[in-house]
Amino acid sequence: MPKPTRHVLVCTQMRPPNHPRGACAHRDAGAVMNRFAEAFQARGLWGSYLLSQTSCIGPCDAGTNVLVYPDNVLYSGVGTADVDEIIEAHVLGGQPVERLLAAPQNW
Ligand code: FES
Repeated sequence: MPKPTRHVLVCTQMRPPNHPRGACAHRDAGAVMNRFAEAFQARGLWGSYLLSQTSCIGPCDAGTNVLVYPDNVLYSGVGTADVDEIIEAHVLGGQPVERLLAAPQNW
């Protein structure tokens, strides 16, 4: 397998209802993950780019959180409508999407 150009990790952590930390799974993370997978498939990104589900990254109450390596960029509050922009601008274009960056105190 070739080394990927970028690796996208989507937090899909689940926790019990009313858990004090919340969880990205309660903030539509499954749908966000599916949207990334659809976009990877539609654009033929598999092989050159990597997409993974991950457990908790840290700022749970700001989810859905999405991490992009090797750039070490964390996005928060990501919804399905944001996925194409992240792929186009950052994953393919190398320019992080400023409006979705995690708050400085979180990352
Ligand atoms: S549950 Fe997603 S960052 Fe903690």
